[in-house]
Amino acid sequence: MQIIAHRGASGEYPENTLLAIEQAIVQGADAIEIDVFAVQGELLVIHDHHLERTTNGTGSIYQYSLAGLMQLDAGQGQRIPTLWQVLELTHGKCWLNIELKGNNTVAPLLALLDKAEQQLGFDCQQLLISSFNHHLLAVIKLKRPDLKLGALTASLPVDYAAFASQLQAYSVNCDVSFINQAMVDDAKARGLKVYVYTVDQPDDIRRLQEYGVDGIFCNYPARSRALTIKKPA
Ligand code: G3P
Ligand code: MG
Repeated sequence: MQIIAHRGASGEYPENTLLAIEQAIVQGADAIEIDVFAVQGELLVIHDHHLERTTNGTGSIYQYSLAGLMQLDAGQGQRIPTLWQVLELTHGKCWLNIELKGNNTVAPLLALLDKAEQQLGFDCQQLLISSFNHHLLAVIKLKRPDLKLGALTASLPVDYAAFASQLQAYSVNCDVSFINQAMVDDAKARGLKVYVYTVDQPDDIRRLQEYGVDGIFCNYPARSRALTIKKPA
């Protein structure tokens, strides 16, 4: 089972920072999950569109200039990273799940990936692009059918993973609260990977391995690594 560091090693380091990502790699994570908002055309790595929980800023990210956002303290002296910085940091080290939050992310994302391919030799097969907003995923599929898509759900749909098949997704990314064997079996029958968030409890890790899920999003990647049997991506 793959270990995907949820917002980096966010149980021990400030979430969605370069420090948390570096430490997740050190801890043996197979992949890093980050959350991305677009602000004035720049893709920034942050989970909330309000700043109070994770930085010393106040109010909405959309009320700040880019320069102002980049000066905020995101914990332990860390700054809010750009997606570009994360691509540079993870390039060649592990795969990366970019979760799109908010609006207007698709055009800057596709432009940034073009630039990363040209300037870094970045392999976009090392990416999984996910969102709870499936309309964004459908647009990406039209423009870059080669990109792997993760269809996020916070529920257990009546027709299980059918929505992910419809999106031609690579994976269905499910909430640990609702996942069950029927969902996993349905996804597998459709050729989808199954990734589950957010999983830090040993009993959940054991249960999900028994279901046959492909990967789990963890806040403590080293602890989860120690409890899992490693399988290829
Ligand atoms: O991508 C898995 C998980 O991160 C989705 O929920 O709120 O933690 O971004 P959230
Ligand atoms: Mg997320």
